[in-house]
Amino acid sequence: MCGLLKVDKEPVTILVTGAAGQIGYALVPMIARGMVLGPNQPVILHMLETEAGFEALKGVKMELIDAAFPLLKGVVITTDVVEACKDVNIAVMVAGIPRKEGMERKDVMSRNVSIYKAQASALEEHAAADCKVLVVANPANTNALILKEFAPSIPEKNITCLTRLDHNRALGQISEKLNVHVSDVKNVIIWGNHSSTQYPDVNHATVATSNGQKNVRELVSDDYWLNNEFITTVQQRGGAIIKARKLSSALSAASAACDHIHDWVVGTPKGTWVSMGVYSDGSYGIQPGLIYSFPVTCDKGEWSIVQGLKIDELSREKLDKTAQELIEEKALAYSCL
Ligand code: LMR
Repeated sequence: MCGLLKVDKEPVTILVTGAAGQIGYALVPMIARGMVLGPNQPVILHMLETEAGFEALKGVKMELIDAAFPLLKGVVITTDVVEACKDVNIAVMVAGIPRKEGMERKDVMSRNVSIYKAQASALEEHAAADCKVLVVANPANTNALILKEFAPSIPEKNITCLTRLDHNRALGQISEKLNVHVSDVKNVIIWGNHSSTQYPDVNHATVATSNGQKNVRELVSDDYWLNNEFITTVQQRGGAIIKARKLSSALSAASAACDHIHDWVVGTPKGTWVSMGVYSDGSYGIQPGLIYSFPVTCDKGEWSIVQGLKIDELSREKLDKTAQELIEEKALAYSCL
């Protein structure tokens, strides 16, 4: 074939809600370029916006056409949630009221959970039966939980939320601290909520060195930094970006969404895990019925929680604290509906 691209697979239909927003605008070209499903997988994009965002969405469609992506087999733009959800195989739920400077995720709760309840019904009725869902909009874990509860026929394993952004942030911090390439760092864990109570855990993380894999705790001799500044930097990174940009993170959020779906569908490399917000089955003593971020490996389109990791006393407290916040968010979400 001498390097010719042979694309004869059936296209996969991917929905992006809030597609003309900051994250959507960064994400759709990544999807169209094959960064989510690989260089041999054609895609059809369904892009949903509000009436207010629709004019901008028309511009995004024009740009997608102008970019002449070989893998992009169709683009549907709409303000109609039913049309948007029709036959989608993957749904990336970005739409939501974003957090502004000084706001906590709880502040955006009531507007966002109503959006998720409505979209859950449309997905349940119109998406493909095995549709995989990634919720990005905050409060991401609780929006995903609401979506799960109001779309009971979508298998619970298919509804996830984004904590890969925090996972990647943790990899980035370790790489900066040790002055190693980020791709040499692996197996950090984000436990719990995509919020400032999340627990970025390096106890099982390793770095590839010329002398083999070394534990991060062995290489970073500064325990104080690992147990304090590292954790708060990752926990507060979203807020720091909002302060600097006056807008929430977009390129890193889009890139993390791309990584999340890619690894879920294509699989995680042997010996490597990633963090995903998934429906708790009681692993690590986390109450079932929460969407909680765990370390997971993925194979053949299915994630599994990594089992048997040793949890020390300090970590236990942090795992429980972020679970408690999710229990409270769940109650608040129900009171808003
Ligand atoms: C982020 O983590 O950057 C986003 O979830 C935005 C936010 O509100 O923190």
